Amino acid sequence: MYISAQTALLGLICVCIAGAVRYEPNWKSIDSRPLPEWFDNDKVGIFLHWGVFSVISYKNAWFWHDWKISKDPQMIAFMNKNYRPDFTYADFAHKFTAEFYEPDRWAEIFKASGARYVVLTSKHHEGFTLWPSKVSWNWNAMDVGPNRDLVGDLAKAVRKADLRFGLYHSLYEWFNPLYLEDQANKWTTNRFVTQKVRPGLEEIVNAYKPDVIWSDGDWEAPDTYWNSTDFLAWLYNDSPVKDTVVTNDRWGQGLQQKHGGYYSGPDRNLPDVLQKHKYENAMTLDKNAWTFRREVQLSDFITPHDLIATLVQTVSCNGNILVNVGPTHDGRIAPIFEQRLREMGSWLGVNGEAIYGSKPWTHQNDTITPHIWFTKNGKSDKTVYASVLDWPESTGHVVLGAVKYSTVSSVQLLGLKDPALKFTEGKDGATNVQFPPGVSPESAIRFAYVLKIVLK
Ligand SMILES: *[C@@H]1O[C@H](CO)[C@@H](O)[C@H](O)[C@H]1NC(C)=O
Ligand SMILES: *[C@@H]1O[C@H](CO)[C@@H](O)[C@H](O)[C@H]1NC(C)=O
Repeated sequence: MYISAQTALLGLICVCIAGAVRYEPNWKSIDSRPLPEWFDNDKVGIFLHWGVFSVISYKNAWFWHDWKISKDPQMIAFMNKNYRPDFTYADFAHKFTAEFYEPDRWAEIFKASGARYVVLTSKHHEGFTLWPSKVSWNWNAMDVGPNRDLVGDLAKAVRKADLRFGLYHSLYEWFNPLYLEDQANKWTTNRFVTQKVRPGLEEIVNAYKPDVIWSDGDWEAPDTYWNSTDFLAWLYNDSPVKDTVVTNDRWGQGLQQKHGGYYSGPDRNLPDVLQKHKYENAMTLDKNAWTFRREVQLSDFITPHDLIATLVQTVSCNGNILVNVGPTHDGRIAPIFEQRLREMGSWLGVNGEAIYGSKPWTHQNDTITPHIWFTKNGKSDKTVYASVLDWPESTGHVVLGAVKYSTVSSVQLLGLKDPALKFTEGKDGATNVQFPPGVSPESAIRFAYVLKIVLK
């Protein structure tokens, strides 16, 4: 009896191992992998654009491209005015000093923002790696500039703060001679991919075990050139993060919103209707740039109200939000970024149950009153959350057309001492929810008022 039970158990284990899914290097197989659950639960991430472009900190992260490839007169004039005639882009790297870089302090701010994951540019289109890459000799943060493994130090700090850590990685590099050679050969050769991209990707996966690979810079060449499905099959089958890693959809020309993991779609992707496929809205606190820029004005920053409005709309439509911050070349997060992040965190501190672990509801926004976005509790279909963006000054109540009065058991306003609200039947069976007299303007909930609606 004992023997046979043991044998049976062994048999079962063998079946399980044999039955473990192995992904094949084709899109059908790669796309069949379920998205690891943590991603949909966590909802809020921080995006960091940091690199040599943070030294110039003028206009955007595409400075080198705009200066030398687009030959943008504004960039040329800027260089002529401020730098000696033979100044090269590489000369900026020495000034990437990061002397104030305290990863634990960054991690504390990200934690306080309510974000659950952090995604850092390990390598942007300029090709400079923020980790000591063996395939980026003298063009990495250990050899030039900070003389430090910026990626590894942040990974440690972020994980110590109990956040997940992910890496952005640009496939293409504007000026890499191997890339330019493959491009000139119309992608019939791929030395850049075999000698640079693939080894680099394996380095970051093996060394930092990222929870996200945020791929970018794919659009000039087909996925067959990038050998994307081969990399993804390795990532999902054999890499140290095979069970936890999530990826996006930027793996080759024309693949956005078609293949890969979740859809990152276009930048600042803010749909207003339900998306069937899980997506992420990568957006910026400085509305006009991904990198820190010195000429930025206060009015360029998204207001806390608009930030929360974007957050609730994104989550209602089945998205995560990835909130971008541009650190400075010397390793600081400027106070205005920190302020926005802490505001988001204080709102999430009160209203997080409407966001984390939530699922899209039957309706995304209300059918009568504008600027109301719904989610439902991930564990119970009976609990629905309505994030009301505007306090009903004039009427004192909001009309919820999407919520039938006859189905409602109770309504609460999260964050109030006495959260229970009165509700009555409105026109055509709608629910009219009576708001209490105004909340204090200092209150963390003033950017969106979350109604927790329990259905019968
Ligand atoms: C893709 O990668 C695999 C594994 O490194 C390699 O065997 C294959 O030749 C590559 N394909 C192309 C087109 O480079
Ligand atoms: C709900 O959203 C849809 C899509 O944006 C829009 O057409 C509709 O007007 C919105 N409803 C209200 C009441 O604002």
